[in-house]
Amino acid sequence: DKPIGVAVLGMGNVGSEVVRILLDHATDLTARVGAPLVLRGVAVRDIGKDRGIDPDLLTTDVRALVARDDVDLVVEVLGGIEPARELILAALNAGKSVVTANKALLAEYTGELADAAESHRADLYFEAAVAGAIPVVRPLMQSLAGDRVNRVIGIVNGTTNFILSAMDETGADYADTLAEAGRLGYAEADPTADVEGFDAAAKAAILASLAFHTRVTSADVHREGISSITAADIATARAFDCTVKLLALCERVSDDDGNDRISVRVYPSLVPLSHPLASVSGAFNAVVVEAEAAGRLMFYGQGAGGAPTASAVMGDLVMAARNKFYGGRGPGESTYAKLPVAPMGDT
Ligand code: NDP
Ligand code: HSE
Repeated sequence: DKPIGVAVLGMGNVGSEVVRILLDHATDLTARVGAPLVLRGVAVRDIGKDRGIDPDLLTTDVRALVARDDVDLVVEVLGGIEPARELILAALNAGKSVVTANKALLAEYTGELADAAESHRADLYFEAAVAGAIPVVRPLMQSLAGDRVNRVIGIVNGTTNFILSAMDETGADYADTLAEAGRLGYAEADPTADVEGFDAAAKAAILASLAFHTRVTSADVHREGISSITAADIATARAFDCTVKLLALCERVSDDDGNDRISVRVYPSLVPLSHPLASVSGAFNAVVVEAEAAGRLMFYGQGAGGAPTASAVMGDLVMAARNKFYGGRGPGESTYAKLPVAPMGDT
């Protein structure tokens, strides 16, 4: 069968695990897809660094890699807005499907990217963009598409949960734990995105868009981070049988005329120790979804780190490759309700 060519953009925490799985499990992946999934190239900035793969696969010419005729699928794990946005658009406009873990980009530009995917009958998949290994994007987009979701609440940033749990459980120092989260591959390239809540806000925007079939951007999200949380705050929480968690809360609310609006917030919160979210420790994440017919669902697992995130990327890649092989296309957005976002004072 004709091979399906894959380009991986980025070989950092996530990209290196994606490349490892692609190479180590090539036979299994071929069986699952129906055709060989062949790695055509890997884009990096520093071509001199030894990455344990055939150096001929490496390139710094990321645009040329995306444009290659033998590349059918593009995995974007560079991070940041540009050139990621431009490269994803170039791939989609050429009819190539894209898998990305880039929540910062998606939270600003999902509309533009999804429109390009729709116009060119390509897939745009992003399970890895929210909560690492945990399947939550696809359940919201597909499994719950016929239900009415009213609320999504969760811990969606591994770095801050790692810091807050360590401060609570062992009295660890904030700065030391943040540095450790960086070493373990949990933190963003600029960890300000984690500790100031920007990363969680981007994920909340994506979750709210999917849950409420609308388009929410980061700018719509009320955001507070954890950088001002002190050991004394954690001790006070303990005294009240609570712990501190950075929560993302996406809710359907009614305005005075009974019309639906949505409210999306990220903030450090006191969580009673008896609540299931209180026991989510380290870089784990959990997302609780409340839907009219389904009731309450809880998704839990590793929310950050190269390998867990690569698992979600690979799931998307197999789906996109199968769609290429069978000549189909996966489900796109169903985000046309355009629910207004409630001003913060209203909720
Ligand atoms: P890293 O910073 O570890 O890796 C980024 C990679 O991209 C590096 O290999 C870097 O090259 C390469 N790169 C960056 N810019 C360019 C460019 N302009 N041209 C060519 N190569 C470039 O990031 P992560 O792997 O941690 O994260 C990647 C993406 O995945 C981000 O969007 C992040 O938000 C997301 N994500 C990360 C998770 C995690 O736990 N780490 C979890 C979920 C999502 P070089 O190696 O030469 O520097
Ligand atoms: N920096 C992110 C986190 C990576 O700590 O959750 C996973 O999206």
